Amino acid sequence: MIQNDLFLRTLRGESAERPPVWFMRQAGRYLPDYMVLKEKYSFFERVQNPDLAREITVMPIDQVGVDAAILFSDILVIAQSLGLQVDMVTGKGPVLQTATTQAEVAALNVENTEEFFHYATPAIKAVKEGLENRVPLIGFAGSPWTLLCYMVQGQGSKDFGEAKRFILNEPERAKVMLEKITEATIRYLHIQIDAGCDTLQIFDSWGGMLSPAMYDEFSLPYMARITEAVKDQVPVILFAKGAWYALDKLHATGASALGLSWTTSPDYARKICGPDAVFQGNLDPTTLLASPDVVARATKKMIDSFGGHHHIVNLGHGVLPTTSVDSARAFVETAKAYRY
Ligand code: CP3
Repeated sequence: MIQNDLFLRTLRGESAERPPVWFMRQAGRYLPDYMVLKEKYSFFERVQNPDLAREITVMPIDQVGVDAAILFSDILVIAQSLGLQVDMVTGKGPVLQTATTQAEVAALNVENTEEFFHYATPAIKAVKEGLENRVPLIGFAGSPWTLLCYMVQGQGSKDFGEAKRFILNEPERAKVMLEKITEATIRYLHIQIDAGCDTLQIFDSWGGMLSPAMYDEFSLPYMARITEAVKDQVPVILFAKGAWYALDKLHATGASALGLSWTTSPDYARKICGPDAVFQGNLDPTTLLASPDVVARATKKMIDSFGGHHHIVNLGHGVLPTTSVDSARAFVETAKAYRY
């Protein structure tokens, strides 16, 4: 049994004395002890080595006191498992081998999933040991659309113009690619569940870059398929950043909770999805650049705005690397001191 099960109870729709708190990208980035490990080991060594994965995943539990852990990994591991080279380049971010031609898309290999992820089970088991049943462990994957963005563009982008050009010019080929990503993702998530992840989050970080009609065609059906494949085993959180127009349809997938970015008001989300929906979010991550007392006030106001129930405290996107540990702590401590 997990000692602090506030997060899991909230995901099940049960009432609680306060909202649980964790934040996206809480492992790594802004933590000084993480930076020491970053100097010594490559990114994928940190992901694949069980001792390093355990140390990095547990760090924010010990150092900032969040109510849930998220596995240290990256959404781009699915691109690797399908056969594309991924490099994390310091100062630039991820650089990927792309797949756009018919032959390149045909070569993406779903059958390689279990062999590629041979490291994941020992890493997750080590993390679970390190957590000693204190808090639940969140596993995760990227959405097929967000993965396609990187696999076509080859790197991050402000507008993902190449990825959009690809789905506009070659919609059928794009769908073959989205199908393959979906299948590999479902297989990988089953590995995460079997190894001990207590819940899963799907990051559709670039969902909100699509128009509502394009979202319905190129993102939603794949998010729904993934949710359907795992939701009877563990609770699923869908985070489609900025896709406020799809909240009703995301809710209808049967996911346990929906992540909101800071541009979506809780009032609007509750109106669209009804009073029983569970939401996660949604403080603007740049708020954490302010001093701890400002952060505490803004966090309390944000929690108030969710109306006193069915809420998981989080940011509206990942924590920024320039965030101070003191401000991150002020965010967490404000949620932990809150009482409904
Ligand atoms: O939440 C966590 O702390 C767990 C680990 C985690 C990482 N990436 C580690 C990481 C998670 C959940 C992710 C998800 C991820 N990765 C997303 C979805 C969430 C989001 O923020 O939108 C996306 C779009 C990526 C792709 C990615 N990986 C980018 C754009 C970058 C470079 C910029 C950056 O710092 O995020 C990465 C590299 C990466 N993934 C780092 C970390 C800690 C930084 C590189 C390093 O520390 O060596």
